[in-house]
Amino acid sequence: MQLCLRSVCQDDLVQTLKWHSDQELSRLTGGRRLPITEVDELAWYSGLSHCRDQAILIVDQGGEAVGLVGLYDIDWVARTARSGLMVDPQHQDAGVGTQAYSMLIDYAENSLGLRRLWAMIVVGNEASLRLHDRLGFEREGVLRQHWFVDGALADVNVVGRCTPAAGVVRQQDAP
Ligand SMILES: CC(C)(COP(=O)(O)OP(=O)(O)OC[C@H]1O[C@@H](n2cnc3c(N)ncnc32)[C@H](O)[C@@H]1OP(=O)(O)O)[C@@H](O)C(=O)NCCC(=O)NCCS
Repeated sequence: MQLCLRSVCQDDLVQTLKWHSDQELSRLTGGRRLPITEVDELAWYSGLSHCRDQAILIVDQGGEAVGLVGLYDIDWVARTARSGLMVDPQHQDAGVGTQAYSMLIDYAENSLGLRRLWAMIVVGNEASLRLHDRLGFEREGVLRQHWFVDGALADVNVVGRCTPAAGVVRQQDAP
């Protein structure tokens, strides 16, 4: 399976609008809840190039857009970012998410110099938890009643992945 990550282009907007309007994807990613239109999608796309604290990329499989990966809330001083992904429902369970996310990690660490990625995973999203476990994210804690999902408040797991670095004082090392 030949995958690459590339910039979003205007031709992708029909597909991204479908994903951003998909209730199940929104439920699992904490995405937009209000109805969205082509105009909203175009505004989202136009904003991408001005935004210096996020990098959103299309997962491309042989010329077909099959998902999105992203780095959000990039802190260029602490060199951290929140990471996330979604794979088109028709392409799930075929290794796309694992491969694309490991490419995103490589890009974050080796091209952007980020040293910590963290992600929010709503309780019950076992596929995403397993994927993050596989790629070296550790479970760091739970944000209680943090999202409103299916008519109820839901806990959200926080997972994180730090690259080894010199001069880091961790909680367990503190006097
Ligand atoms: C979570 C999500 C991103 C996973 O993406 P995916 O492409 O389905 O993930 P993968 O295919 O890489 O992994 C799923 C399974 O396929 C298996 N797999 C991995 N490589 C494979 C391959 N080459 N061929 C077949 N199966 C493979 C994995 O072992 C994995 O099994 P497991 O989870 O039972 O251990 C996807 O389900 C999704 O988009 N969900 C909705 C949005 C979402 O939850 N996003 C994350 C928010 S934090």
